Amino acid sequence: MLTVVGMGPSGLHLMTPAAREAIDHADALAGGARHLQQFPAFGGESFTLGANIPELLGWIAARQERRVVVMASGDPLFYGIGTRLVAHFGAEHVRIIPGISAVQYLCAQAGIDMNEMWLTSSHGRRVCFDELARHHKVAMVTDGLCGPREIAAQLIARGKGYRWMVIGENLAMENEAIHWLPVSEVHNEYAMNAVVILDER
Ligand SMILES: C[S@@+](CC[C@H](N)C(=O)[O-])C[C@H]1O[C@@H](n2cnc3c(N)ncnc32)[C@H](O)[C@@H]1O
Repeated sequence: MLTVVGMGPSGLHLMTPAAREAIDHADALAGGARHLQQFPAFGGESFTLGANIPELLGWIAARQERRVVVMASGDPLFYGIGTRLVAHFGAEHVRIIPGISAVQYLCAQAGIDMNEMWLTSSHGRRVCFDELARHHKVAMVTDGLCGPREIAAQLIARGKGYRWMVIGENLAMENEAIHWLPVSEVHNEYAMNAVVILDER
């Protein structure tokens, strides 16, 4: 049985009890290095996940009779590995345990409701900035190639420099930082982050 658990933004305390229980009962555990490090006492087989998704698919397929758990950052089905695993193995063969996404956590920390919010990602993908600029309330996960500064430049080019960007860096970690800035003043590089873009503060 394949289970994909949402790990939340960081830290065991932000995982659901269901996710913790699935890992406790796993025969084999896959996930990024930062997630595997959270379970140093795990005694079963493990697989370190990076860009090696084809290898992961083969590793899972070879363990169909085992309790395999894949750890996904945040929520597995919000721009996460869960989508790929459901597409590959079929929804009936994958149990998904949801988690708190980086975007949800940032909204909670910043006191921003998620009503009518448009959700997207620039993590390893191209964003349609014309569409993004049309929305009044946007939240997204990002990556090092297309982060707050690049997103701000695209919005400024579309006359949206007056908007506000809320940048959540290293969320739920010791060095968490949340910055509220007018889009026109977003010039810096930030560590791992999610952002919310608002028409007004
Ligand atoms: C592949 S996406 C996964 C998103 C994840 N499924 C979720 O629900 O948050 C990875 C991106 O999520 C965001 N992210 C994940 N954990 C984060 C954290 N603790 N702090 C800030 N951003 C985070 C970053 O934008 C990172 O590049």
